[in-house]
Amino acid sequence: MAGGDVLETGEASNSGGFRIKSYVLRSGRTSKAQQRSLDRLSGAYCVPFTESPIDFRAVFGNDNHVTVEIGFGMGSATAEIASENPQKNYIGIEVFRAGVGRLLWEIENRRLANVRIIEHDAIDVLEKMIPDGSLDAFHIFFPDPWLKKRHRKRRLVKRPFTDILASKLKNGGYICMVSDCADYCDSALAELSAVKTLRNACLKFAPRQRWRPITKFEEKSLSRGRAPTELLFIKE
Ligand SMILES: C[S@@+](CC[C@H](N)C(=O)[O-])C[C@H]1O[C@@H](n2cnc3c(N)ncnc32)[C@H](O)[C@@H]1O
Repeated sequence: MAGGDVLETGEASNSGGFRIKSYVLRSGRTSKAQQRSLDRLSGAYCVPFTESPIDFRAVFGNDNHVTVEIGFGMGSATAEIASENPQKNYIGIEVFRAGVGRLLWEIENRRLANVRIIEHDAIDVLEKMIPDGSLDAFHIFFPDPWLKKRHRKRRLVKRPFTDILASKLKNGGYICMVSDCADYCDSALAELSAVKTLRNACLKFAPRQRWRPITKFEEKSLSRGRAPTELLFIKE
């Protein structure tokens, strides 16, 4: 995915500028099981992208706390966290269709009433659909690292996106980011530290959060001997 030779793809933003995307759509095939889940379950669990703010109560049928996960991949960690915390709501944002199909399968298999999916670019979703001061947390597990220097502009965790993240959190809400890319963690630490309304919960990097399951991407990374680094920032 990231790190290879990619075209400089981007899209026109609504403000008339040109925005570079933080992802390249993976060509990975959607399996038959994933397609079946997409066909049967999207109507119930996927929230279509719209240009107007979401009403969480209408979507979940309750006023429970809401966490947004950006780039859930195959959604295994999302499903596990949601299953452990039925009293909290989770919105997963992902552009990878096979991953959306897989998380829909998990939702049905684990009978999760507290997960919804938005299949769209997270930047648009936050800007248009998520009301300011409405979220309890962001989970950003192994965002695409964009290793090559000329691709670093595609990284998600940088300003102005970090300002948007902060604006969507309630006071006391948190951002948990994890990556195995040391250089990305250093830059994310600087970018998040520069947001006035965010406070680093630790002196520098955070210890492993015990509630956090190992993600699919992390499994591969660990098998290659790469240890993850975590960041934990609180909105004040
Ligand atoms: C390296 S993968 C990690 C997936 C998963 N979190 C894990 O740890 O296994 C990063 C994921 O973020 C998604 N992604 C990147 N930029 C995104 C964006 N702007 N909006 C939604 N998803 C995005 C990609 O499609 C990809 O699936």
